[in-house]
Formats: sequence, structure tokens, C-alpha cells
Amino acid sequence: MIDREQVLSILEGYDPTSIRIGVVASHSALDTCDGAVSEGFGTLAICQKGRERTFANYFRSQKDPSGQVTRGVVDDVLILDRFKDLIRPAAQSFLTESNTLFIPNRSFVSYCGIDSVENDFAVPIVGSRNLLRSEERGDEKDYYWLLEKAGLPYPKKIDSPEDIDRLTIVKVHHKVKTLERGFFTASSPEQFYAKSKELIAQGIIEEDFLDSARMEEYVIGPVFNLDFFYSPLEERGEKIELLGIDWRFESSLDGYVRLPAGQQIGLEKDGVLPEYTVCGHNSATLRESLLEKAFELAERYVKAAEKHYHPGIIGPFCLQTCVDKDLNFYIYDVAPRIGGGTNVHMAVGHPYGNTLWRKEMSTGRRLAMEIRRALEQERLEEIVT
Ligand SMILES: Nc1ncnc2c1ncn2[C@@H]1O[C@H](COP(=O)(O)OP(=O)(O)O)[C@@H](O)[C@H]1O
Ligand SMILES: [Mg+2]
Repeated sequence: MIDREQVLSILEGYDPTSIRIGVVASHSALDTCDGAVSEGFGTLAICQKGRERTFANYFRSQKDPSGQVTRGVVDDVLILDRFKDLIRPAAQSFLTESNTLFIPNRSFVSYCGIDSVENDFAVPIVGSRNLLRSEERGDEKDYYWLLEKAGLPYPKKIDSPEDIDRLTIVKVHHKVKTLERGFFTASSPEQFYAKSKELIAQGIIEEDFLDSARMEEYVIGPVFNLDFFYSPLEERGEKIELLGIDWRFESSLDGYVRLPAGQQIGLEKDGVLPEYTVCGHNSATLRESLLEKAFELAERYVKAAEKHYHPGIIGPFCLQTCVDKDLNFYIYDVAPRIGGGTNVHMAVGHPYGNTLWRKEMSTGRRLAMEIRRALEQERLEEIVT
């Protein structure tokens, strides 16, 4: 892990009056930039050549003579050949010399690699650098380990295909779309072998997929991604905030379920199995009696993260849950950083975040607000790692 003193000495060199927010231009970057602009910060989007136009062109900012942003949210772009070039000293210097505080999202870690994020990236990160590793499924202290430590409910793990005695989801990497999923479901060992054989034949999963697969009970019920925020700076109110809830559109699953059952069965017989590639999000609320339970999950997670991953969670995190027929939550994934679905609340805010803060409060804005508060209270080092 990079020396904290190194990061803090860079932070000390920053001009607090011209801090800007930098983010890898993908995942939740628009929300992050939008929130930063709302709170009066400049923004930098780190783009990869060939996929920069959304940020460099379409959402490029314009300002009036007084400096007010009148259009867009991206003030500056750094266009790299590959996202992972962000780790190179020249790119890092570009960020640190322009007083950039960096917001980590999943794209940053996926493209740059967790080892580089931990050891080679000296730019001050707003959030918890060490906790990012808990997302590396299969690592020793991954989020399942943390959930176990926290006594939090997660879907029952199925150890081997022979043990499949209920509807089970098999989580595998996609063979070709390496950052995507080659997930499938099976309710018996026979079905597991038949479907995996089919997916291997179609080139969707690797032959040795089982070595790195996670199998768990498929919870039949709605999915709620709980977008929380933890504020280490808050002193009067609760430190945990529920900002909003999103859920995903997944391809081709969502197309699949919009077909009549007979056609679904026909497709399955033809070997056309649904894929789980995220391609959009929608917003949701919870029935009020479930909110208490949701907060309890967050409290436990924050406590466990603090204990096992000091300093623990800082800022946004997302508990990805399913709710079963008896209204029990199961956490199937945890993002210890801004969630991937927060664009759904961009600019208009999250229902719960708005209610709490009496103004439009997206995750991006809440992040920027925390930075603003930290600057005002001279407590930036408490939210930076
Ligand atoms: N145990 C489960 N029961 C039901 N659905 C699940 C379960 N685990 C995952 N899912 C579904 O699969 C999707 C992706 O799961 P997730 O574990 O978050 O994978 P990733 O983060 O790699 O996309 C979720 O949006 C949800 O719809
Ligand atoms: Mg997930």
C-alpha cells in the first residue's frame, strides 16, 4: 500500500482555493462531475481515446463571463491511449499539479488494476483506497468475507455443482467481454452441466470457468441497490445516509423476461441463454417498513469495514441486495465506492437524498459537498487516502 505520508504530502501541496475533481470518464463520471459543478468545483475527466466524445464534446462545459457554468459538466479532459496509462507518472503529475482530488469508480480499478491503485497511484483519493480490494471477488478478504465478519445476510453459497438443489446463480467472467459477466442459472447438477456445456460451446465462458466461479442461491425477488453515504465529518446528525436506490437493466435478460413464457422456453431449448450485461439503471424506493432494516445493514457494514479495513468506508457505498418473499434482505455484492447506477439520480437528486438535504442531492453532489465541508473545516485528510 502506498505510503500515507506520500499522499498527504501531495495533498499539502494543493491550493485549497482551486481544488478540482478528477474521475475516470466511465461508470459514474457524469454524476460525479455534475455534483462537483453543483458544489462549485472544476472537473477533469480522464478519457480513453476512442470513447472520449461523451465527455470531451457532448457534456463539455461552458461558462459565462462570471465563471458560472451554463452548459455541461466537464471542464477539462485528459485523453489517454489506454485508461491504465493513468498510472504513468506523467498522467499523475498532470493531476497533482492541477490540484485534482480523485474519485475512484469501478472503471478506475478495473482498467488500472487493483495492485497499481494500491501501490503506484499517488494522487489523493477521496474515499477508502484499501477497501477497494474487497471488490476483487475470490480474494482472501473479499466482500463476502467482510459480510461474514459483519454478520450480514448474503445468499447461501453453493460449493459444488453436485450440491445444486435449488435455483442457483453461477457467477463467471465472460470469456470475450472480459469485464462483463457470463452468469447463468441452474436448479440441478444436470442443468448446470448442460448449460455450462452450451455456454462453453458458444464461447461465452471458459472451459475452466468453475475455478473462479461463485455459486450461490438465486434469491427470487426484487433487486435494490442501496446507495448509501458515510460521512466521517458529520458531527450532529447520523453519519450514515441513504441517498437513493437503483436497479439495473441487463442485456439480454431484460429482453428475455419481456417475452411470453412459451417463447422463453423455446429460446432456452435453442441454447439462447440470457446474459447479464449491465446497460442501464432505473430508480426505486423501498416500502417504509424496510428502511429500518436497510439502515441496519449499512450500520453493520460500516462498523465491520472500520474494524477490518481501517479507516473503513469514507463517502459513498452501495449495498446490492435482493429481497425475498418474507422481506428479508440478502446482500449479493458490495461497492465500497460510488455505485454504477447513480446517474439515474444525476441533477434531480435521489428521493431520499433530497428529503434529507432539502435540495437536489445526487451521490455526485453529496461527494462534492463532503469535499466542500472538509475544505471549510480544514479536514481534507480525514476523507482522503
Ligand atoms: N444471489 C442472487 N440472487 C438473485 N439475483 C442475483 C444474485 N446475485 C446476483 N444477482 C443478479 O445478478 C446481477 C449482477 O450481480 P453481481 O453479483 O452484482 O455481479 P456484478 O457486480 O459482477 O455485475 C444483479 O443485478 C442481480 O440482478
Ligand atoms: Mg454488482
